[in-house]
Amino acid sequence: MRNVKISAVGAWVPPRVLTNDDLARMVDTSNEWILERTGIQERHIADPEMATSDLALAAAQAALAQRGTTAEDVDAIILCTVTPDHMFPSTACIVQHKLGAKHAWGFDLIAACSSFVYGLTTAAHLVGGGTHKKVLVIGADTMSRIIDYTDRATCVLFGDGAGAFLLEPGADDEPGFIGFRNEIDGSGAEVLRMPAGGSRMPPSHETVDQRLHFVHQEGQAVFKFAVKRMGEISAQLLAQHGLKPEQVKLMIPHQANRRIILACADRLGMPHENVLINIERYGNTTAGTIPIATHEAYTTGRLQKGDMVLFAAVGAGFTVGANLWRWWL
Ligand code: UT7
Repeated sequence: MRNVKISAVGAWVPPRVLTNDDLARMVDTSNEWILERTGIQERHIADPEMATSDLALAAAQAALAQRGTTAEDVDAIILCTVTPDHMFPSTACIVQHKLGAKHAWGFDLIAACSSFVYGLTTAAHLVGGGTHKKVLVIGADTMSRIIDYTDRATCVLFGDGAGAFLLEPGADDEPGFIGFRNEIDGSGAEVLRMPAGGSRMPPSHETVDQRLHFVHQEGQAVFKFAVKRMGEISAQLLAQHGLKPEQVKLMIPHQANRRIILACADRLGMPHENVLINIERYGNTTAGTIPIATHEAYTTGRLQKGDMVLFAAVGAGFTVGANLWRWWL
C-alpha cells in the first residue's frame, strides 16, 4: 500500500446554540445534571430549512479551500451519516452535485458514531491501493431531526454539525495512515436505534403517534459497552503496531460523554492532557464529532506535523473502530 495522508480538514456547525438552560425550560432537567453526567454545556442546532447535505457541503468546501484545490479533482466522496437528507438518493449524490465534484463517485456510510472512523479506513484503502488520488470523507449529522425533545434522557445529548477530511497520497517521507482495527457486535442492535422508518417498521400513523422515528437508547448499556470496548480496541491497535500510549500525541475520541472518554483514557493508560475533549460546546454530533474535534486540534496547534494521532469510536450497532495516523499538515 502506498502512503496516504490527511491533506486538509474542514468543519462547520450551524450558528444557533441550544444551552442546557434552554433545555431545562423544555424538559425536567438542569444544567448541573447535564454537565455532571455528560460534560455538555451547549450544542448547535440547524435551522429548519437546513438538511445534512448543507452541513456536509460547508465542511467539504472548507476542507477543499484549505487545501487550495477544486471539487473537480475529487475522485470519491464517502458521506458518513445516520441522518441523510432522504433514504435515497444518497446524501453523497446531493453533495457531489452541489459541490461540483464532476468526476467523483461515492456513497453514504451508516455506522452511527463510528461512521467517520470506518470512512477513514475505507478512504485510506482507496488512496493507498493506488486507484484514487483525492477522497473526501465527510462526517455530517443533523441529529436534531431525529431527537425527541420531550425525552430528557436523549434530548440533552445530541447536536448538529459536520467535518471533512481530504485524503491524498503521501510522499515517501509522509506515512500518514498507520493502521486500523474496526469491528461490529450486532448483539447490541436493540439498545440504540431508531425503531421505525425502515423496511422492518415502515412509517404509519401509529409509528408517528408512538414516537418511533426518534432515537431510542438504553443509556447505561451503551455507556458500559463504550467504556469497555473503546479503550480495549485502542489498546489492541497500539499493541498490533508495537506502540505504547505515550507515543500517541493526541487521542481524538468520539464525543458521546465526557465520563466515557476519561474512563477509556484511564483504561488505556493515556494521560488526560493527551485526549481531546470538546463535547462541552457541541454535544454528540454523531459522525461529526471526530472531524470537528480534529479541525479544532489542528487550528489551535494541538496537532503538529509528524504527530501520531489515534481516532476511536463506539456507536449504535454496536460499531467499534480505531484508526492510527501520523499528521502531516
Ligand atoms: O454516541 C452514541 C452513543 N451513546 C452514548 O454513548 C451514551 C451513553 N450513555 C450515557 O452517556 C449515559 O448513560 C447518559 C448520559 C445517557 C445517562 O447517564 P447515567 O448516569 O447513565 O444516568 P441514568 O440513565 O442511570 O439515569 C439516572 C437518573 C434517572 O433517574 P432515577 O431513575 O435515578 O430517578 C434518570 O431518569 O437520571 C435521570 N435522568 C435525568 N435527570 C435529569 C435521565 N436523564 C436526565 C436528565 N436530567 N436529562
